[in-house]
Amino acid sequence: ARNYRIAVIPGDGIGKETVPEGLRVLDAAATRFGFSLKLDHYDWSCETYQKTGAMMPPDGLDRLRESDSIFLGAVGWPGVPDHVSLWGLLIPIRRSFDQYVNLRPCRLMPGARTPLAGRTEADIDFYVVRENTEGEYSSSGGRHFEGTEREFVSQLTVMTRHGVDRILRYAFELARTRPRRHVTSATKSNGITFTMPYWDERFALMAQQYPDVSTAQYHIDILCAHFVQHPDWFDVVVGSNLFGDILSDLGPAVAGSIGIAPSANINPERVHPSMFEPVHGSAPDIAGRHVCNPIGQVWSGAMMLEHLGEKAAADAIVAAIETLLREGGPRTRDMGGQAGTAEVGRALAEIVARA
Ligand code: NAD
Ligand code: IPM
Ligand code: MN
Repeated sequence: ARNYRIAVIPGDGIGKETVPEGLRVLDAAATRFGFSLKLDHYDWSCETYQKTGAMMPPDGLDRLRESDSIFLGAVGWPGVPDHVSLWGLLIPIRRSFDQYVNLRPCRLMPGARTPLAGRTEADIDFYVVRENTEGEYSSSGGRHFEGTEREFVSQLTVMTRHGVDRILRYAFELARTRPRRHVTSATKSNGITFTMPYWDERFALMAQQYPDVSTAQYHIDILCAHFVQHPDWFDVVVGSNLFGDILSDLGPAVAGSIGIAPSANINPERVHPSMFEPVHGSAPDIAGRHVCNPIGQVWSGAMMLEHLGEKAAADAIVAAIETLLREGGPRTRDMGGQAGTAEVGRALAEIVARA
């Protein structure tokens, strides 16, 4: 039988509440579709940091390397500075395993409420393809002349030809699998004068290799406005690490809730494990109350199964989310309901289990 080894890292805050629901639905899918998941649980979190001075043990990455995929909740908690917790766990995983694609679907689901008047499911259905290993998120730079009048900080944006080309290529290839075959590039070449013109230059060259794919390019500021005013213009949107980060919270917000948004941190060459996690964070404002939305986690589980080759099971999970929302099933408060996290997770697992 097909068997997959999954490293499970709930992390902090609502990650501890969403991951069990993600696993519940994955388990239902495994039973129905005849494969099994061997789970390795890792409780690495900000608590680990407070106890040991590190977010994960020294051999943490080596342990994860053994797995077929990594299923993560969220990282970050008040009391540990975010740059310490995230650069101690989430970002090292993305980089060490060369997960250079951060794929983030944004879809208005049936029965979900968009804040945009008059918009329907057909209007909001696109992917943000975010560069996930370089760009604005670099470790080059620092604080100099600390405490003096001359004090300054700098952080270098790094765009390599290899890094830019591979994310652009992924976006064009993805567009080819979609009916509209359209790629939008996020730029800021009017204000950022070295890296963004370079990005545009590589984008134009890549576009020449895909004459069957139409393209558009917008500065990130007006692109944000277009997400709100014309979400129907978008099919595949490719951006640098920071621009992709911003667009992938805005996209789900126009589609109703950040709580349903999934993401895949992919190493397309499959040399290393890929990682699946919701777009949202640890939500300290609602953590511990079991009211958070587990759908982003559950949908991330579907993306994981698709990556593992279990396409039918992945489709069944996405269909279960659609059925639950369309048929007015239990929903959490961020979607206008009253249900608790586990109630939604159980309802989804039951739909998935139905053959
Ligand atoms: P957040 O996504 O955690 O929360 C933003 C808002 O959205 C909050 O009001 C929260 O209650 C709400 N929300 C988020 N997920 C929800 C869900 N599933 N259901 C219902 N409501 C939900 O973003 P933040 O407040 O900026 O960050 C909190 C912490 O999480 C910080 O430490 C941050 O660095 C970290 N973070 C981690 C990740 C990650 O692990 N990938 C992503 C984003 C933020
Ligand atoms: C995300 C998060 C992370 C990012 C943070 C927490 C470092 O916002 O996964 O979108 O910027 O990548
Ligand atoms: Mn983000």
